[in-house]
Amino acid sequence: MTWAPRRPAADALIRWSPRPTAQRFFYPRWIAACTVGELVGIGTATGTTLALNAWAGEPTTTFARLGVLALFAAVGIIEGGALASLQWRVLRTRLPRLRAGEWIGPTVAIAVAGWVVGMTPSLFLAPAPDSAPSGPSAEPALALVLVLAAVAGAAAGVCFGAAQWFVLRRHAERAYMWIWIHAPAWALALAAIFLGAAVPTADWPLWAIGAVGVGGGVLGGLLLGVVTGLVARCLTPWVDEEHWSLRGKVCAVTGANSGIGQEVALGLARLGGSVLLLCRRPAEGERVRQTILSSHPAADVWVVPCDMADLGSIRRAAAGLVREWPRLDVLVHNAGATFPQRTITADGVEATLAVDAVGPCLLTTLLRDRLEAARGRVITLTGIYHRRGHVDIADLHFAHRPYDWLAANNQAQKCRWLFTSELARRAPHLMAASVHPGAVLTGAQRRLPPLARLLVYTLARPGFVRAEVGAIPVVRLAARPDVAPLTGRFFDRCQPAADVADPALARMFWAACEILTGQSWGSGLSTGQLAQDDEGAADRLVHGRAHAES
Ligand SMILES: NC(=O)c1ccc[n+]([C@@H]2O[C@H](COP(=O)([O-])OP(=O)(O)OC[C@H]3O[C@@H](n4cnc5c(N)ncnc54)[C@H](OP(=O)(O)O)[C@@H]3O)[C@@H](O)[C@H]2O)c1
Repeated sequence: MTWAPRRPAADALIRWSPRPTAQRFFYPRWIAACTVGELVGIGTATGTTLALNAWAGEPTTTFARLGVLALFAAVGIIEGGALASLQWRVLRTRLPRLRAGEWIGPTVAIAVAGWVVGMTPSLFLAPAPDSAPSGPSAEPALALVLVLAAVAGAAAGVCFGAAQWFVLRRHAERAYMWIWIHAPAWALALAAIFLGAAVPTADWPLWAIGAVGVGGGVLGGLLLGVVTGLVARCLTPWVDEEHWSLRGKVCAVTGANSGIGQEVALGLARLGGSVLLLCRRPAEGERVRQTILSSHPAADVWVVPCDMADLGSIRRAAAGLVREWPRLDVLVHNAGATFPQRTITADGVEATLAVDAVGPCLLTTLLRDRLEAARGRVITLTGIYHRRGHVDIADLHFAHRPYDWLAANNQAQKCRWLFTSELARRAPHLMAASVHPGAVLTGAQRRLPPLARLLVYTLARPGFVRAEVGAIPVVRLAARPDVAPLTGRFFDRCQPAADVADPALARMFWAACEILTGQSWGSGLSTGQLAQDDEGAADRLVHGRAHAES
């Protein structure tokens, strides 16, 4: 039994305990993290250099030099790993969806590259010791060393900043500032580190050389933390789990049993909303419900059987929802499917179109009163591929043109965007938006043709994010307090894009949906009031469906 009676909202409220805040002292904690991270890194580097000088001397053979280079690559792993893991511990108090691996990986890669590039000239390009000019003029002036270190530091900082920004932009607003703040931060840090390395002379005792070198690292880390912290402390998460709340609100998510939908459901539950998982396979929905309850025992989550390719199933789900729940605040159209072969549903609709656009149109129409009463939000997941989509109103079901799964998918994505646009026009009391979640690694890629699948899991893999990250723009649109004025917009991840749907085409598609579902919106255009052009399209559409059925 998956469709259970609604638990009183107060029950959920009482059992809901807000996440404790861990953001106090963010700035000092960030500075401490950078300082200790660099202390570990430079301490390891100084220790390695001193040990090499004491036990092995200058490397003379190429093999020995390569060995030293490998040692310093390991130093990069230790430095980058220590710095990034300590930074992550502080950052996650503000960006709770940030995972250690995704933050540490790029930082370590840049740190290793930095040490390898930095050590290569002195190991392989410097003149051999016996050919070096003698006398004090061989040592460059300290000022020149510091300037060069600052320039190299600024370049390294831009690399660090860019690598971390690539991850950060998915979690926080204004992340672009991360790149630029790292240039002055690392310029100062590297100058301090080089100061610590350049001050001691060869006649200093080993412990003093080591202490000054480590002191330079500490000063470098401190400067790094102070400067980058100016931006870090201003980072605002795309979804503010500390301050936003969906308590007392009811949210429905279609296709919530896997991929982005599952994470959207979890994200909405985390914010305190009552969440309805609309799934065609209720057992899978129940599995997700138990998963959410295991991590958030106070969550109010229920499963509603709903097959978006079956108009009867959608009607039953909507009727149950209206019967059992007094309100509906958020409806997320997430369910999506692609079909390698042309498939026609029992209702005579091309299956991709049925799941992606016709089903959502019917469900929204049926839930209209509930949504409008709550001044609700209808969020529809759409790919940027809608821009390549061609909607043939006269042949929506590929009855007269060759079927191609990509063309069917692009058409369906575009229809979703047309649906959103027309919904925003028809229902000014609702907030309707389409959102492209980015390239998200889910079960969807497993259904790609073999070559495309290989590409996704190898070369293109860094461009894909986890479903949890892909859900962020959707949860943001569902929960952000001041989003209502953005109705009718297309969002490329968390940013509104410039896309504008063709209003005439949107009206024609809506009219087509009304004919296919037999359900009228009740205001604006209806099947009986089609404009001249729409009537012709409707005729052709009905003809197309009849052809498809035959
Ligand atoms: N992943 C991306 O990179 C990406 C990019 C742009 C847009 N999107 C859009 O984001 C949405 C979710 O994508 P995803 O990657 O998470 O896809 P996914 O992993 O394939 O999940 C799709 C979900 O839709 C459900 N579904 C399929 N047919 C259904 C039906 N007839 N009735 C009810 N539910 C049905 C599936 O349930 P079953 O498990 O029962 O099949 C599944 O839970 C899709 O609409 C997709 O177009 C994704």
